[in-house]
Amino acid sequence: MKKLFAVLGDPIGHSMSPVMHNDLFSFYNIDGVYLPFQVKDEDLYDAVKGLKALGVGGFNVTVPHKSKILPFLDGIDELAANIGAVNTVVNENGQLMGYNTDGPGFLKGLNPILPKIAGQKVLIIGAGGAARAIYFTLAKENPDTLDIANRTVEKARELIKDCPYSVSSRAYSFEEASESLGEYDLVVQTTVIGMSPKIDEQPFVLNNLRKQAVFCDIIYNPLETKFLKEAEQKGAIIQNGLDMFVYQGALAFEKWTGIFPDVERMRDNVLKQLGGRTC
Ligand code: ATR
Repeated sequence: MKKLFAVLGDPIGHSMSPVMHNDLFSFYNIDGVYLPFQVKDEDLYDAVKGLKALGVGGFNVTVPHKSKILPFLDGIDELAANIGAVNTVVNENGQLMGYNTDGPGFLKGLNPILPKIAGQKVLIIGAGGAARAIYFTLAKENPDTLDIANRTVEKARELIKDCPYSVSSRAYSFEEASESLGEYDLVVQTTVIGMSPKIDEQPFVLNNLRKQAVFCDIIYNPLETKFLKEAEQKGAIIQNGLDMFVYQGALAFEKWTGIFPDVERMRDNVLKQLGGRTC
């Protein structure tokens, strides 16, 4: 019988996950279908209960439900519980188990250009949900430092305080981070600044960055944000958010099917979908 997979969010119309996962189901001859569902906050519990009753194989959870879903699941793995957000749910013998593949997806996507986080000096820009997933995942990899710069510095301090993994961290304003940018081996931009349609914005001007440092932006629309363009011009190695998106999906697919899928195929698929967009 055909297995149901899904993504729950609000809005959900722009999600590229359905096309990406349905292509994988057909490529690997798996009898599954992946559907987007727009679910309002107040309907989330009923939606999860309904999917469980229908014997869903698994589903993704996106904005704004990644944290709200936690109490509705039967179990949550350690990393997702610490992050306080779930993006992937797996039906394990009738029990809905929550995982977070956003942080691990970022790490896996980064691996080809920066294989080892241990001993590296890292700066994360932003202190929202995405920053949290990346911060907690990188904290487990033994970096030399893992600093956070945020518009609201207090939020960066709170994130650092919440982390159960021991790591040397400081919270900075954008101005302070801009001044000490030359210290870092890896800088990860996690805010919405520079995302289409506001493509002329960036968190701060990139003075004194270290040549050959790695600069990542988790935005993939546009594929090169102003932040990444400037970093590249000044000698950094850059990576956009496409890899994180593709690898979070690949890790979810692996949890559902046991198959780690062809990420090149997934990347091409997403690029094709992005090409068809007007913004
Ligand atoms: P996500 O889940 O995508 O990470 P979020 O949890 O809403 O989204 O977090 C948004 C992040 O982008 C925060 O770091 C936020 O900064 P504040 O903590 O100061 O709110 C940052 N952000 C959003 N819009 C911003 C803007 N115009 N200027 C600076 N930072 C911004």
